[in-house]
Amino acid sequence: MSKTFYLTTPIYYVNDAPHLGHAYTTIAGDVLTRWHRQRGESVWYLTGTDEHGQKVMRTAEANGVAPQEWTDRLVEDAWKPLWKHLNIANDDFIRTTSERHMSRVQRFLEKLKESGYIYEGEYDGLYCVGCEEFKLPGDILEKDGEKTCPTHSRALEEVAETNWFFKLSAFAKPLLERYQQHPETCEPASARNEVISFLSGDVVDLSISRSSFNWGIPVSWDPGQVVYVWFDALLNYATAVGLGDDPASEGGKKFADTWPASVHLVGKDILRFHAVIWPAMLMAAGLPLPEKVFAHGWLLVGGEKMSKSKLTGIAPSDITSHFGVDAYRYYFMRAISFGSDGSFSWEDISARYTSELANDFGNLASRTIAMIEKYCDAKVPAVADEPILSDALADAVRVADEKMCALDFQGGLVAIMDFCKRVNGYVTEQAPWVLAKDDSKRAELDRVLYATAESLRALAILLHATMPETTEKLWESLGAHQSIGALGDQRIASAGMWGGLPAGTHVVKGEVLFPRLLEE
Ligand code: MSP
Repeated sequence: MSKTFYLTTPIYYVNDAPHLGHAYTTIAGDVLTRWHRQRGESVWYLTGTDEHGQKVMRTAEANGVAPQEWTDRLVEDAWKPLWKHLNIANDDFIRTTSERHMSRVQRFLEKLKESGYIYEGEYDGLYCVGCEEFKLPGDILEKDGEKTCPTHSRALEEVAETNWFFKLSAFAKPLLERYQQHPETCEPASARNEVISFLSGDVVDLSISRSSFNWGIPVSWDPGQVVYVWFDALLNYATAVGLGDDPASEGGKKFADTWPASVHLVGKDILRFHAVIWPAMLMAAGLPLPEKVFAHGWLLVGGEKMSKSKLTGIAPSDITSHFGVDAYRYYFMRAISFGSDGSFSWEDISARYTSELANDFGNLASRTIAMIEKYCDAKVPAVADEPILSDALADAVRVADEKMCALDFQGGLVAIMDFCKRVNGYVTEQAPWVLAKDDSKRAELDRVLYATAESLRALAILLHATMPETTEKLWESLGAHQSIGALGDQRIASAGMWGGLPAGTHVVKGEVLFPRLLEE
């Protein structure tokens, strides 16, 4: 059996509730893993929360609660409920304050120290609590005579401590070679070029512990220090699947089955951590490197990265309450090229909702079901060939599969929705309501209605990963659950095999898939 397709999202800081930017990555991961499940692959989808460090600690303090209480509250009241609301089918949820994570991090660090990759040194430099990052001279922005972080536009803090260091510099050369020889391991190309340019410069060792506060995982041989929050957080991808466990144990078997990760999805702001520090940590431990790190762009508001700290964060529920969860999922995957920045606008989501979802897709479904009810006694007519649609469908499936697997969600959805448009054009050309008026055209009418219903079967399968709930409704309405089986069990390849919807399948008018929007 081939290895599990193991996909991760970044683990999110729980200093605040999630906004659109966070949901963007998690939805992309959900669409991709659902797609791979529908390809018949074994899949593991991990997300979680990053709970240590000064950023979370200070927010908890500002709210007058202990950090653990703060993170427990946010995880249970804000983060997990949002993923449920957005229909995210993750297989696991890792919290960095969990015992399973903390003990494995400590064990990993001890091993690195034994192998000589960790040493004691003095750190003296500038730190951004927003990024939880030690800033290098090239990352600092001088503003009004102050040294600031370009991402957070806030003054940097001076840190002078005796810390433990990781020999990051030892891995610059092998990593550079890796990205030059295996470009597919860091995508898109713009992200890879940035990493290559960073690795070609002067890569210095990394301070991996802090002594001035205690909200973190204690360094086991030096309890006065806690592990640097990024070193702790990056390890989640491996601790969640049993890093360092006895190979015969459950954790050890899970690790053998999932590691290395197939794709780490990250935002471009945290690329360097994932494409430099993380693989260096793995190399130091003699572990295989992730197959791919993919850096997506930012959702922008007013031309700037949407963020809570800049008061531009939009809550996902603001959108789902108006458009519904599936339209929300569809919109961000369809409208923005994954890997590039994109601006969110209410006008754009409204326009796409109406034209692509309500008109092209929703109307096609309701018209087809209504006509089969009216002209065919609610029974799907005999299976019939219709090469102009079946050929277009076979192409759409091939292109969509290629694009989705390459994380080009926009390209995949365009291929699928172009097919949907093609089917609409076919219905208009064939005008079944005219054929129905002439008894001698009965066979033609049946062929057209079969072809249209069969195309809807395929669309339900192809759009299921992106819009799980709506496609279920369509599947029910088509009667396919009874005549074919559960939608989630349908393979992508089967979508393109014409004739899948059996004759005689009983259709039922369901609720409107994308109701008309209420004016605000
Ligand atoms: N905790 C770290 C990640 C550790 S992973 C080992 C972190 N957390 S975060 O909550 O600040 O951000 C998590 C992800 O959300 C990042 O990939 C970031 O790019 C993404 N986004 C935050 N705001 C965003 C937008 N406005 N647009 C798109 N994604 C953005 O970093």
